[in-house]
Amino acid sequence: MAFDKKYSFINEDRGVTSKALKYLAVALSCCSVFIFLNCGNQESSQPNDRTSQIQPLTKYWEKAIPNQEIPENLESLSASECGECHEEIYREWQQSNHAIALQDPQFQAEWAKDDSLWVCLNCHTPLQNQQEFIILGKRGGDYFQPAQQANPHFDPELQAESITCAVCHVRDGAVIGTRGDLEEAPHKVRKDPRFLSREFCLTCHNITDVLTPTLVCSFQSGDEWATSPYPAAGQDCISCHMPVIHRPLVSGGTARQTRRHTWVGSAIPKFPGEDDIVEGYKSGLDVVVHSSPEMLTAGDSSFLTVSVTNQRAGHFLPTGDPEYFLTVDLRLTDKQGNTVIDTTFRVGQEWEWWPEVRKLGDNRLKPLEQRNYTLAVETPQVEENFYWEVIITYHRMTVENAALMNLLGKYPIAAIIYQRKLRVRGGTDKVL
Ligand code: HEC
Ligand code: HEC
Ligand code: HEC
Ligand code: HEC
Ligand code: HEC
Repeated sequence: MAFDKKYSFINEDRGVTSKALKYLAVALSCCSVFIFLNCGNQESSQPNDRTSQIQPLTKYWEKAIPNQEIPENLESLSASECGECHEEIYREWQQSNHAIALQDPQFQAEWAKDDSLWVCLNCHTPLQNQQEFIILGKRGGDYFQPAQQANPHFDPELQAESITCAVCHVRDGAVIGTRGDLEEAPHKVRKDPRFLSREFCLTCHNITDVLTPTLVCSFQSGDEWATSPYPAAGQDCISCHMPVIHRPLVSGGTARQTRRHTWVGSAIPKFPGEDDIVEGYKSGLDVVVHSSPEMLTAGDSSFLTVSVTNQRAGHFLPTGDPEYFLTVDLRLTDKQGNTVIDTTFRVGQEWEWWPEVRKLGDNRLKPLEQRNYTLAVETPQVEENFYWEVIITYHRMTVENAALMNLLGKYPIAAIIYQRKLRVRGGTDKVL
């Protein structure tokens, strides 16, 4: 989730919101020039009232990508039309979270709690053609009081495709590619690396901003990547999340170097009805398990240590949504499976949402960072067998938040990404 907040507080405490926004507006006007437009349409009734002053949109993510023309020889901007020729890429995109960024039940739930705030759409359905309204500014600087007008180019079918092909591939009546000289293409092609670049990914995946005291936007995948060893190794968002593949761009075409369009990230599926780990998922973690001593005798102390390394993620693990976290669960269980002792470690960010959003802590794994987690026990009477167990789980959110948003049962909110059980023999036998 881009924006985190304490659910339901936003509506109840708009007073707090606008006070702080006024403060923000004052603070900001010291360093930038604001043009306060007078609202000249029927929506403005009190020209001298501060709330009728429209503060212009100044940040890029406050603006939609401008309306795009349909390239010549195509009938629409829609992915389904692109997919008539680019079948394989279309099928991959359909499986990606990009294709459901609007329908995602979590997005729908959070968006509803945020009064269907327009700004969310600039990353989830970013083309102006995908948005019903053109936003002209914020009344009194309040995100929840937009000045807007109907968009004559609004295309509801395109809206339903969320982060559709045209978001990355269509500008100024041409299809943007890496080549720009493919004569077989029925549509105009143009080379423009700006839109097929890591920087373009980061326009959505790297942003830190405060909208209201209880609403912040917090994704730093780009900053985390920039300070990692991966830039020097020539690996970025695209090389890891869109691996190279040689294949024709259209069926029957010449095989060319191209890239997968599945954008596999975390393990947990988002499509209702699916609960297997996402196809193509490769955990960023390497896990090594040690236990001791080899010979167990009652009364001795023994331990289980799990060493986890962020070996493959080019950013913190987890990255993105501040709600994601991992749990590392270490247990000693008896033969019947009853837990004798266990401990759980949490890896993630910690936030306080009320009365003001504040990040309290962050113990995510940095790229290539290794960390050990240990469970030490006084070995119990060891006539029988025991088991050490390690379970590592990736969580999209807590069960409490899922319940609050009415998401339980809609799709999985957690997935086990690593599990191991080691038998420990009683008496003086060795750990197997
Ligand atoms: C600056 C771009 C941007 C804006 C604006 C934005 N989002 Fe997002 N949103 C993202 C990105 C990027 C992701 C994927 C992050 C990830 O998977 O780590 C995402 C993912 C989400 C998710 C899915 C989280 C999950 O666990 O997979 C939800 C829900 C969400 N956003 C809600 C919202 C809401 C509600 C708003 C408006 C208040 C909003 N977003 C505005 C960029 C944005
Ligand atoms: C989030 C942005 C994004 C979306 C959405 C997207 N693509 Fe791409 N596409 C890319 C990137 C990035 C590349 C690879 C650029 C490179 O190889 O450096 C690419 C490559 C391609 C290529 C290979 C041609 C070339 O220029 O090398 C085709 C064809 C293509 N995409 C079609 C599609 C179609 C069809 C859709 C929708 C079903 C789609 N793309 C959706 C970002 C996107
Ligand atoms: C009627 C079939 C057809 C449709 C519809 C179509 N394309 Fe293409 N496209 C092609 C062909 C053919 C090529 C050239 C393939 C080749 O030479 O390998 C091509 C090339 C491309 C390239 C590579 C351009 C380059 O310069 O590298 C991209 C990207 C692309 N199409 C994206 C799209 C997108 C996005 C849409 C929808 C808005 C779309 N196409 C609709 C047939 C189509
Ligand atoms: C227009 C905004 C936007 C752009 C541009 C964009 N993304 Fe995303 N991306 C999102 C949103 C929003 C989601 C989450 C959708 C959801 O889960 O509901 C997402 C999801 C993802 C995920 C899956 C995350 C997970 O939790 O599994 C990956 C990986 C990803 N994007 C990588 C990329 C890469 C690489 C690029 C550049 C080629 C890119 N994105 C460009 C907005 C964007
Ligand atoms: C060196 C390869 C690599 C690079 C570079 C990389 N990623 Fe990832 N990314 C991964 C792996 C592996 C995962 C899966 C982590 C896991 O869940 O175990 C992942 C997961 C994600 C997720 C899902 C959230 C999560 O933590 O699981 C998002 C969103 C994402 N990446 C976005 C990006 C963006 C944006 C960039 C560019 C700044 C990027 N990635 C660069 C390998 C990479």
